[in-house]
Amino acid sequence: MPPRTAKPELDKLLRAALQVRRNAYAPYSRFPVGAAVLADGRIYAACNVENSSYPLAVCAERNAIAAAVAAGARRIEALAVVGGSGRPTAPCGGCRQVIAEFAPPDAPVAYATPEGARVETTVGALLPAAFGRKDLTAAAPGSKGSRAARAPGKVRNAARARGSRTSGR
Ligand code: THU
Repeated sequence: MPPRTAKPELDKLLRAALQVRRNAYAPYSRFPVGAAVLADGRIYAACNVENSSYPLAVCAERNAIAAAVAAGARRIEALAVVGGSGRPTAPCGGCRQVIAEFAPPDAPVAYATPEGARVETTVGALLPAAFGRKDLTAAAPGSKGSRAARAPGKVRNAARARGSRTSGR
């Protein structure tokens, strides 16, 4: 069992991640992972689920987040991952993006080995300068940060030029 963390919610999440890791379906990698997230005061835990078509494997973190979202949660307060052996397994790059969709940068994250070695960090430290919803809204037509708002003539002219190239008239 991982040793105690500074944050009691992470202790609970690590325990849940360690337990659900036992259900991991990882016959191909033989790398079982468990993850647990805290959302709306509840813990949602899940494991990795692999497939004979290898790229279809889904990470434990993403499955745990999907369970929370399916239950109606939209904000993740903390996350823990237990995987590997020998060294703690940090969430993969794809999972970091999915975590950042639902958790604020200061949300605590713990990742640990089943034997107890662990690292504590935050969502923001795992994915600094994250791409997010704000980037899409800044680019939306009519928003202050959009290209159209910054240089309206240029964008209109570019659109017209594109139109004349593709219209066939
Ligand atoms: N895996 C996770 O579940 N979470 C991660 O953050 C890294 C990788 C899984 C995917 C695959 O089933 C196995 O570990 C080996 O990559």
